[in-house]
Amino acid sequence: MTEPPEAAVRTVDLKKTYPASGPRPEVPAVQGIDLDVPRGEFFGLLGPNGAGKSTTIGMLTTLVVPTGGSAHVCGLDVTKDAVEIKRRIGVVSQNNTLDNDLTVAENLEFRGRYFGLSARDARTRATDLLELFGLTEQRAGNPFEISGGQAKRVMICRALMHGPEVLFLDEPTAGLDPQTRTNLWEVLRGLQAAGQTIVLTTHYMEEAEALCDRVAVVDHGRILAGGTVDQLKAGAGADTVITVTYDAAVPREIKALADRDGISRVEVHDGQVRVFAAEPGGLLGELVTIGSGAGAGVTDATQLRPSLETVFLTLTGREYRE
Ligand SMILES: Nc1ncnc2c1ncn2[C@@H]1O[C@H](COP(=O)(O)OP(=O)(O)OP(=O)(O)O)[C@@H](O)[C@H]1O
Ligand SMILES: [Mg+2]
Repeated sequence: MTEPPEAAVRTVDLKKTYPASGPRPEVPAVQGIDLDVPRGEFFGLLGPNGAGKSTTIGMLTTLVVPTGGSAHVCGLDVTKDAVEIKRRIGVVSQNNTLDNDLTVAENLEFRGRYFGLSARDARTRATDLLELFGLTEQRAGNPFEISGGQAKRVMICRALMHGPEVLFLDEPTAGLDPQTRTNLWEVLRGLQAAGQTIVLTTHYMEEAEALCDRVAVVDHGRILAGGTVDQLKAGAGADTVITVTYDAAVPREIKALADRDGISRVEVHDGQVRVFAAEPGGLLGELVTIGSGAGAGVTDATQLRPSLETVFLTLTGREYRE
């Protein structure tokens, strides 16, 4: 019997605590993460600022040394086989790391040469990738002359020069305008359709939803929930969440709504109530009516249908801010 091909990424209780430095205490950035990403998958780490996404990607790409647990990429241990892992992966970091002293095409060719391609093969491969990514016109330009979206595409091309088994992308569309972002989504979908395994981090919920086969929602260095977006919505975030802010204390009758069928939770903080409901019909109107009956006017109201946003709210009790 042949062994099944090893997972693209597998971590067990992976941890990173950055040491204290001067007055700053140590930072437990990643506090025990388990991941299992099969080959061919488009996997997303979704979380707000400071969740530990870049630290996790850093450990998987051998740039950050773990302080606990284990991580394997293409079956290789990140702490023992860093050189071989680097040969097998492509990395696009959060910041622009293109070399401004080289043209766009030269940035790619240098990378190809570094990975052992002949000068001719590097040139051919760079030309093909630039064409595929719609960058042929920019090939002789300097990285600082091109737009942010183009620079990101060039970085992806550069990461693909040596045909990596796994492509890691840290916040590939952060700071891009919506149209450039959706263009990049098309590019990434095309790569996956051609068989590329992709691990991406993002703080955009709609990006995770649009691209990823499976998502792990991370916050404060821990995975809160994982699965397909549909599984996540059907689990923790199956409820519609209605949030109402009053100009006076929340009327007592509202807390009692928690006992009603179809309502799973009612949270009250000062003048605000948040109701988690599987059957939200008519509820918002009712919250307004109960309020005015008790002399509390509504100053703000939102209703969120089941989504990654409600998953996050249900799991953390706080709103997801991008
Ligand atoms: N080199 C470092 N030294 C000390 N602390 C660090 C270092 N890098 C990151 N941190 C801290 O670790 C935590 C996680 O940071 P990380 O960059 O992994 O989060 P992130 O999810 O990528 O956030 P963002 O969305 O802002 O990119 C944060 O509290 C951050 O301040
Ligand atoms: Mg980051």
